[in-house]
Amino acid sequence: MSKLPIWYSDYKELIESSIMKYLDMYLALPMTPPLEEFKSVIRYSFRGWKKLRSILALEFYLALSQKQFSEIRYDDDIIRVCIALEAVHAYSLLHDDLPCMDNDELRRWELTTWKKFGEYKAVLAWDFLNTLCFEILSDIKDAKVSREISKLISHSVWFYGMIGGQIEDIFYENNIHDLDTDILRSLHGKKTGKLIEASILSWVTLSGDISNYEVYKDFWKKLGLAFQVKDDLLDVEGTPEETGKSVWWEKKGFVYLIWVDAARKILSDIIIECHSIAHNLWSEKIDFIVDYIENRKK
Ligand code: IPE
Ligand code: IPE
Ligand code: MG
Ligand code: MG
Repeated sequence: MSKLPIWYSDYKELIESSIMKYLDMYLALPMTPPLEEFKSVIRYSFRGWKKLRSILALEFYLALSQKQFSEIRYDDDIIRVCIALEAVHAYSLLHDDLPCMDNDELRRWELTTWKKFGEYKAVLAWDFLNTLCFEILSDIKDAKVSREISKLISHSVWFYGMIGGQIEDIFYENNIHDLDTDILRSLHGKKTGKLIEASILSWVTLSGDISNYEVYKDFWKKLGLAFQVKDDLLDVEGTPEETGKSVWWEKKGFVYLIWVDAARKILSDIIIECHSIAHNLWSEKIDFIVDYIENRKK
């Protein structure tokens, strides 16, 4: 799966160009030289690659609201949500790469933000992206929707989300004898799964239609886990050239605990389950994303 389909590139292009438009708007005022330089740190940190979370949010929204991609504009609420999700994702990686966490120097084929610009700017860029997420959500036209989406995304970060997962990830890295696959499933569900869950669930809040909730409620949990199991596999099956980040044999993930073949089996079982749930959507695009999560090389 080296080439992405045209629709995926179109979605990605819309999200990336919308991010640029909003950043141009938010960063428009001329500032002092150090702040002008800091603007480039923010842009660098937000560059991103797959845009998987926002593409999931967009496709779920389109598939369930029966709208066409051609109708979507950069100032639609769904695009605000996409940008907010990408801001959270980008800052979670800023943190994750810091010397006090994974101490990584390579991200998306380039130097990590802290390595390129220094730690204090990476931490402040994190602060900026975190607040930018809620700034942009506050512009959602309907105040109730704006509030609900803000809660959905902030809950995907708190104790039962990314922060909770990262705390546990680092704890078990140093307490490996206490780690088992049940804990790891739960940890991955928080660290990576919750933001993916929020991406898919954002459509419920935006449309106000909860009728499909029961049908898909296992889907987002499984998809998030599949994404992180694959990420663990890439730590041993990938190379820095292919993945754009350092790979880490000793990482205490699924491969470390149960080895490559068993991790692959868990991944393919979850992927089959995801396909059977996604069948209800009749979206070839969601089917593609499910396969992409299993087969991606980066
Ligand atoms: C990497 O996420 C971090 C994890 C949650 C495993 P992605 O693989 O989606 O990163 P980018 O945005 O494409 O670089
Ligand atoms: C990062 O997890 C996921 C976050 C939620 C920040 P990892 O440390 O496992 O991912 P990579 O390999 O650095 O992208
Ligand atoms: Mg980490
Ligand atoms: Mg890491």
